[in-house]
Amino acid sequence: MSSHAHSPRPVDRLAEHREVVLAIEPAVAANLDLLVPVHKAWQPSDYLPDLEASDWRDDVERFRQSSQSVSDELLVVLVGDMITEEALPSYSVSLNELVRDGSGTDPAPWARWLRGWSAEENRHGDLLNAYLRLTGRVSMRAVERTVHHLIANGFTPGTDTDPYGLLVYTSFQERATRISHGNVGRMADRQGDAHLARICGMIASDESRHETFYTRAMAEVLDRDPGGGILAFRSMLRSQISMPGRLMDDGRDPDLFDHFATVAQRTGVYTVRDYASIIEHLVAAWRIGERSVTGAAARAQDEICRQAGRYERLADRLSATLDRQPPVAFSWIHDRRA
Ligand SMILES: [Fe+2]
Ligand SMILES: [Fe+2]
Repeated sequence: MSSHAHSPRPVDRLAEHREVVLAIEPAVAANLDLLVPVHKAWQPSDYLPDLEASDWRDDVERFRQSSQSVSDELLVVLVGDMITEEALPSYSVSLNELVRDGSGTDPAPWARWLRGWSAEENRHGDLLNAYLRLTGRVSMRAVERTVHHLIANGFTPGTDTDPYGLLVYTSFQERATRISHGNVGRMADRQGDAHLARICGMIASDESRHETFYTRAMAEVLDRDPGGGILAFRSMLRSQISMPGRLMDDGRDPDLFDHFATVAQRTGVYTVRDYASIIEHLVAAWRIGERSVTGAAARAQDEICRQAGRYERLADRLSATLDRQPPVAFSWIHDRRA
């Protein structure tokens, strides 16, 4: 087996990946319409009481009233999701590795995408923050401390500066957040808070457009470099795909993220089974099994395709364990348990 001819040094490999990412720029330009023009875009104010109106007190009162029906468990998940959204500066920094905007105002399609994406995402944290503040249901200071810690702690997508890895990561995460916000919205609706249901529905629909963009971009990469793309996908799957809010910390609970993730699992907002289903979806969307590759990439292709079913079984085992975890106190809701 003489595979050395096809194992470029890591630096060369990353340089090749960078070239492919640049080569798909026409496709990026063609997909910039997945961003909504500002004059048509929703803004947080559209979903919040109008504090300039003469009857603002009644409006705020109604807003607060309907939030009373939201369960503590759902609140904890919502807070964790909001904190994750509020750490947007870390994600923008990280994605500049993909986009390489040297000036900050680069007119190139990749750079325009990153700025437009950041601007749309920025509304998510803003809106959820305003919802939580106005309802008076959570300890905002504890929540703010957690955001502060999370941004200061940072974020790593675990891609070792490989731009292919970043595209796999973002495709995965946009879908994960779409599922999570969508489920919080549906549960809020069932629990009787129509405001929160609408808010989460709007955010989920943004995530859905973003998911489409990154998934298409990675498909373009796979069309040009199926071997490299498949190897990058496999290396992301070999270590568990880390969640963006992984390093959240309220200065009290050393296992805060795990505790939050357990409540998300228990409520069914975002479960291990969702994780498995996202991977299966990406394997199908990127037609991994149909790509013609040889050598190490062919072995990675086999591994990815065989694994899809294994994640499902693992998900069932893991879910059973997580579902049994006892409720823990969260500073976000004044140490009530969830
Ligand atoms: Fe978001
Ligand atoms: Fe997103």
